[in-house]
Amino acid sequence: MLSKNLRIFVAGHTGMVGSAVLRHFKQEGFEHLVTRTRQELDLLDQQAVRVFFQTEAIDLVILAAAKVGGIEANRSFPAEFIYENLAVTVNVVHESFSAGVRQLLFLGSSCIYPKLGPQPLKEEHLLTGPLEPTNEPYAVAKIAGIKLCQAYNRQYSTRYLSVMPTNLYGPNDNYDLRTSHVLPALIRKFHLAKLAQQGDWDGIAADQQHWGAIPDDILAGLAGIGEAAGHRSPFPGRFQNGAAGGAGVRLWGSGRPYREFLHVDDMADACLFVMGLDAEVIGDQGLFNVGCGQDLRIGDLATLVADIVGFSGAVIWDRTQPDGTPRKRLDISELRRRGWSPKIALEEGVRRTYTTYLADTRRR
Ligand SMILES: NC(=O)c1ccc[n+]([C@@H]2O[C@H](COP(=O)([O-])OP(=O)(O)OC[C@H]3O[C@@H](n4cnc5c(N)ncnc54)[C@H](OP(=O)(O)O)[C@@H]3O)[C@@H](O)[C@H]2O)c1
Repeated sequence: MLSKNLRIFVAGHTGMVGSAVLRHFKQEGFEHLVTRTRQELDLLDQQAVRVFFQTEAIDLVILAAAKVGGIEANRSFPAEFIYENLAVTVNVVHESFSAGVRQLLFLGSSCIYPKLGPQPLKEEHLLTGPLEPTNEPYAVAKIAGIKLCQAYNRQYSTRYLSVMPTNLYGPNDNYDLRTSHVLPALIRKFHLAKLAQQGDWDGIAADQQHWGAIPDDILAGLAGIGEAAGHRSPFPGRFQNGAAGGAGVRLWGSGRPYREFLHVDDMADACLFVMGLDAEVIGDQGLFNVGCGQDLRIGDLATLVADIVGFSGAVIWDRTQPDGTPRKRLDISELRRRGWSPKIALEEGVRRTYTTYLADTRRR
């Protein structure tokens, strides 16, 4: 059990995981939660990170700050993904250590495991085969983070643990269609397509204002969907060509790969659970998979999201785009054996997330 008096630094508290950790720890009665925005403390700046830890008397760190993104973002910015993730991790772990912080939780990712690893993936499968090339720089930085924590534990008897979450979703997710992960992208694409089917161009404009620009090819697709439903687009300059290859929601890849999803509130609960584990049950590696133990095809996920959002039109799979790893289901038996299990089922979690998405869009 963690003492409620600990001073806990939640690094990356404005992000999806960090904000969920903050909510959950507050709910559980932790009162000394320390946060810094990127403007207040750029974690790439080693000197600033040093001064922060030397002056703030932190007891425990949750390291949820990172450069995160989907396949397209990883493909476009591989240098930033490896550099920023390595630098933030090295700065926070080392400066925590130098300031005497004995407890830290590092947020890794399931992409650290081999592309064609045995299913479900166990913690012991780390570094047993080649990685998925599209996000290899990011995965290598995450693996370095795990090894950094393990090395400090071995040499200095710290308690620097790592969790490897599966794909997460929930409040404060990234809905920018150029950089988002699959589930938020599906929610936004189907929502926009539903608005186009209804001819609700004002709704589309409001969505853009809140969540950011919609790429031109998707705008053209929305015009096609609207026009197929008998609604003329009021944006002739941008919507004039309709959807190339038919009216429908265009999704990346074949829809055949399997993925696993966990609501971020369950993830926050797992973070607290892992940091509260007794030393004797942690094990040598200090590394825990966190998932729901079940996966589904992206095609089936798309059907689920379309149903929840209320879009009834066609889906067009763009097979020129990469599928990524065919399957990566996590084996969560290590954490289950110690008493943790997820509580939010996928359908319920997506419903909640879509409700939050709509509320956030209206909040402008
Ligand atoms: N999302 C997922 O599906 C998923 C799955 C597996 C693992 N994870 C892991 O969970 C962790 C958090 O992911 P997330 O989805 O919550 O990401 P996110 O929403 O993008 O949040 C990242 C956070 O890190 C902060 N940050 C990044 N660089 C920083 C810097 N140089 N200085 C200060 N703050 C910085 C961001 O601040 P700004 O907002 O100011 O940029 C933001 O608060 C990551 O380690 C990620 O690998 C996520």
